[in-house]
Amino acid sequence: MVRIKLEKVNKIFNPDVHVLKDIDLEIKDKEFIVLVGPSGCGKSTCLNIIAGLEYVTDGRVLFDDVDVTYVPPKERKIAMVFQSYALYPHMNVRENMGFALKLSKMNKKEIKKRVEAAAHLLEISTLLDRKPKELSGGQRQRVALGRSIVRNPTVFLFDEPLSNLDAKLRIQTRGEIIKLHRKLQITQVYVTHDQVEAMSMADRIAILFDGVFQQIGTPSEVYNKPTNKFVAGFIGSPTMNFWDAKLSNDKIKFGKQEYPIPNDLLIKLKSKGMGDVILGIRPEHIIITPDHHSQSYEVEITVIEFLGAETIVTFEFSDKISGMISTPGFYDAKMGDKAYISFPSEKIHIFDKNTEINLIHY
Ligand SMILES: Nc1ncnc2c1ncn2[C@@H]1O[C@H](COP(=O)(O)OP(=O)(O)O)[C@@H](O)[C@H]1O
Ligand SMILES: [Mg+2]
Repeated sequence: MVRIKLEKVNKIFNPDVHVLKDIDLEIKDKEFIVLVGPSGCGKSTCLNIIAGLEYVTDGRVLFDDVDVTYVPPKERKIAMVFQSYALYPHMNVRENMGFALKLSKMNKKEIKKRVEAAAHLLEISTLLDRKPKELSGGQRQRVALGRSIVRNPTVFLFDEPLSNLDAKLRIQTRGEIIKLHRKLQITQVYVTHDQVEAMSMADRIAILFDGVFQQIGTPSEVYNKPTNKFVAGFIGSPTMNFWDAKLSNDKIKFGKQEYPIPNDLLIKLKSKGMGDVILGIRPEHIIITPDHHSQSYEVEITVIEFLGAETIVTFEFSDKISGMISTPGFYDAKMGDKAYISFPSEKIHIFDKNTEINLIHY
């Protein structure tokens, strides 16, 4: 129904806060795209530009190839859901959901039909006569969604809608928003600073930092083939281990350690020049055992955290370079114990020290 395109969009706030720098973004029809990035990177600004609540300093916004750059929000057929969902306390759920339609002078029968259809979709049909104070936080958030759905939007915009909910409810509501997208089949743009939320919900993730999209791709692309060190460190928890390293001949040297590079990788790296790099490996891709195994490094365990489904082990090589491992289940060891670690070459990432670009994948 709606394809959204941002073309060379710039946003500069006075005096010279350059928040968005020449960004391009194409959102497919019916796509669920998540804009993610650290706080203050410009996610809300970007969403507000799509909504028409904020205008670009330079560039264009297109809805289905129609230039809407300066079209006011009311004419864009969008619905927006925010973190705070401000329902009218004196109105019941039915009145809250139908209020905007009533203001637009829609007839009562049509309002009733739309409110009931939306309530059915959100599984809140039994709550229609309740007042907001008689609802839980999650139910209120669903009423806020319903209030938007009744307007039959063609685009749904979300700005951190789950930040006010507790952890358990956040996971539940996350699932509901995914289901809602499947049922409504409309384009959804969702903003969050939480990479787990982004990974779990998105068809594609757009990672914003430093005024530009660092990478736009599916959850599996951004996890497995991060374009640069920023994306690699932002996606995944615990965060990827990064070690300063040097490429020399057929090895990567980091501290006192050496890691042999397989031939195919070596050819690729050589074509890009050799020198100072950063070696990256995710904690879940490191294998740890109490005994020496082939190509393993001896390390000392400095912290051990059992979380139930996994154990997080912090370790130090003999030269005091440290790292983290996430290993499934319970890892039986104490602080100060020796252990042996290794990691497969298919899982390593090598970043250029200066540009921080991922030399293996890009
Ligand atoms: N109306 C405004 N005037 C001046 N600066 C603003 C305005 N809105 C946002 N900013 C600045 O732009 C940057 C990005 O803000 P925002 O888009 O809200 O980030 P995010 O949603 O990613 O946290 C921040 O540095 C913020 O202070
Ligand atoms: Mg924001």
